[in-house]
Amino acid sequence: MEERDFQELLKNKTGEVQKMISEGLSGYLNGFGDCGYVRTVLEAMEYSFMAGGKRLRPLLMRETYLLFAGRKEKTPEELRDFMTALEMIHTYSLVHDDLPAMDNDEYRRGKKTTWKVYGDAMAVLAGDALMNGAFEIAFRAILGGVTNGLSAAEQSRLARSGAMLAGKAGIDGMLGGQVADVEAEKKHLPMDADKILFIHEKKTAALIETAMGIGAILAGASGEQLEAILDVARKVGIAFQIQDDLLDVIGDSAVLGKTVGSDAESGKETYVTLKGVEASGEDVKRLSEEAVKTLETLPGDSEFLKALILHLIYRNK
Ligand code: IPE
Ligand code: IPE
Ligand code: MG
Ligand code: MG
Ligand code: MG
Repeated sequence: MEERDFQELLKNKTGEVQKMISEGLSGYLNGFGDCGYVRTVLEAMEYSFMAGGKRLRPLLMRETYLLFAGRKEKTPEELRDFMTALEMIHTYSLVHDDLPAMDNDEYRRGKKTTWKVYGDAMAVLAGDALMNGAFEIAFRAILGGVTNGLSAAEQSRLARSGAMLAGKAGIDGMLGGQVADVEAEKKHLPMDADKILFIHEKKTAALIETAMGIGAILAGASGEQLEAILDVARKVGIAFQIQDDLLDVIGDSAVLGKTVGSDAESGKETYVTLKGVEASGEDVKRLSEEAVKTLETLPGDSEFLKALILHLIYRNK
């Protein structure tokens, strides 16, 4: 795909995704009406969610859905619900990750972090509220499958998507990775290749797997296809976190939207301190190319997805 075509497509597709998930969050928040005593938490949720961000996870979910969906509707309502829910969980993970008790960061998505604007306590609560809201939206989508009389197979896809969302956000996923990450850093535990891979797989790849996994499940992909797509997502996710560690060293704060050098300042051992800049970059490339190879074994038009994965190797934000 020509570079210009890819950039144009990426811009359009991200814009579409941004519109869908903004409407998803607004719909959820508006459901509370003019709730005087809880207004601050609603504001903090909106602040963190709408601050910006690449919207990579909902984009990957939709693109994976399109890969397997064939002639089905481009973005059914339940897909939109899961796209919104996943971005809410991702945003909550960032709000909590930035807290003084965790990474103590002051900039995110080009703006002051949620705790800097609303205080630690409200940032904790806003993160909690984003997580609860995500599950409420997902459960409503699952319930909608029942009340709208979807087929048993379709209802089961919705329920499986909900289970994946909860599982991969939790101890065997993002949260578990954060536990190992934060404990290693705060207690200055020795880091090695096995542990850093565990951390990257859990704290970051798990939500990328959720994105592509739910896209595949909702589109009715086979068990074998789902396995393949989860393998692709795992590699993309690990590469994504290695690149994140790299950008903390070689990135530009103004482009990145967060403070460069934050890991070094915390004395954190990362993929880059362990392997060096050059080898880290090579691993990002190798993992991404492997992911693309697996994607090529699947039916459907994956041209944009492949281009996206390869572009992520050189991302600077
Ligand atoms: C940041 O994720 C946290 C990591 C898992 C590396 P993103 O780089 O996707 O952040 P946004 O959503 O674009 O702000
Ligand atoms: C965090 O990793 C990944 C999450 C699950 C939030 P980092 O702590 O490296 O992410 P950034 O650099 O703050 O975005
Ligand atoms: Mg962190
Ligand atoms: Mg951080
Ligand atoms: Mg980082």
